[in-house]
Amino acid sequence: MNKIVVSGGRRLSGEITVGGSKNAALPILFGGIVTGESCVFSNLPRVSDVLKALEILKFLGARIRFLQSGDVRVDYSGVRAGCAPCSLTSAIRGSTYLLGAMLAQFGRAELGGAGGCDFGARPIDQHLMGFERMGARVSCLENSVLIEAPNGLHGARIPLAMPSVGATANLMIAASLAEGETVIENAAAEPHVAALAAFLCDAGARITGVGTDSVRVIGVQKLYGVQNSIIPDMIEAGTYLCAGVACGGPVRVRAVCPAHLTPLLDTFSKMGVKVQTGEDSVTVTALERYRCIDVVTGPFPAFPTDLQPQIAALFCLGNRAMGEGSVTELVFRSRFRYIEELRRMGAIVSIQDRCAHIQPSVLQARKLRSPDLRGGAALLLAALATNGQSEITNAATVGRGYEHLEAKLRALGAHITVF
Ligand code: EPZ
Repeated sequence: MNKIVVSGGRRLSGEITVGGSKNAALPILFGGIVTGESCVFSNLPRVSDVLKALEILKFLGARIRFLQSGDVRVDYSGVRAGCAPCSLTSAIRGSTYLLGAMLAQFGRAELGGAGGCDFGARPIDQHLMGFERMGARVSCLENSVLIEAPNGLHGARIPLAMPSVGATANLMIAASLAEGETVIENAAAEPHVAALAAFLCDAGARITGVGTDSVRVIGVQKLYGVQNSIIPDMIEAGTYLCAGVACGGPVRVRAVCPAHLTPLLDTFSKMGVKVQTGEDSVTVTALERYRCIDVVTGPFPAFPTDLQPQIAALFCLGNRAMGEGSVTELVFRSRFRYIEELRRMGAIVSIQDRCAHIQPSVLQARKLRSPDLRGGAALLLAALATNGQSEITNAATVGRGYEHLEAKLRALGAHITVF
């Protein structure tokens, strides 16, 4: 996916089925290393980040099989201690999970670099602090980090400076085979962290307190291969619901867990959007205009940072949005790169530190460039809601998190072509 061309201004309505969560699949796929056996994954999204993770696992010795059923079997028994090339690991942020998994399984982990969207610095100091508290020795080399625990890891109290999703997940993986009890304080409570904990517990780990800010892990001697169905992707679901709001609806997303979408659905209700929830579906309708409000992102159950660009795009749409709104980004230091592109469409946005104030305006179709995964999704929403033909280049960034994007949007009535 290099370029997306949209003929916008059309009403979108219909139903799409949401895929498995990228942000659950990545820690689970790398976490499977600590089983040393075969695991079978269903509902695994074939987005480029997940395919890259499978490539990294294969390099390290795992055997990957795509089964007729659509499930994916990963045989971790062949994985050996080693360092995957930076050319592979630097493509995705999820590579950081190799550290906890390889350290727990082999007493040694080395990572040349992890990628992910560019929101400014994305340090892993909290991950490293946790490994050190568990008895590992961390060496920051010129182009890589080397972590060694020749005598194995022991349990520890790990007070995170912030509820980091990555650090919580990485340390849960490492602690699952450590000697004794680990307590991760100020832990993240995102649904994909809970999904990882469920996977590890099914494999024999002893983890409690997930979903609270204090996760306890009692290390065990051995973990076992399991089957796992990846939870629905709440950010993919939220993005398509935003498309329904931007372009009228009704749009229904199926195969979702409505409880994971509560922060977004509460926001829609405050905006005056009609929301209906079923057991595994959510439907939005915005035939009338909707209100702009003030949205502040934060760790779950606050409004998710991964939907911040999308909701901001909704507030920009002068043909639908009323009043003025704002998005305040409290999770990442700089996650507003997409706003420059929205301004090129005519969006009226002023940024003060972590807050973007938005005044709806009639947007113009433009040639745009996606800055990152969710920023690109926001540009796509704006293009779908704006009369005329827009193009979005650097669209591979969007392909990292949205499987079958063209087919799903066409099913809702969009005139879109992906090149
Ligand atoms: C995960 O990133 C997700 N990525 C991100 O989704 C998501 O935005 C983020 O969690 C927050 O929910 C994956 O799961 C692959 P963090 P992660 O550690 O783990 C700071 C998407 O669009 N921090 O919770 O990197 C950090 O800089 C992507 O799908 C430290 O300072 O996020 C950030 O400001 C984008 N030191 C904040 O904490 C650390 O050691 C939250 O980061 C770790 C984090």
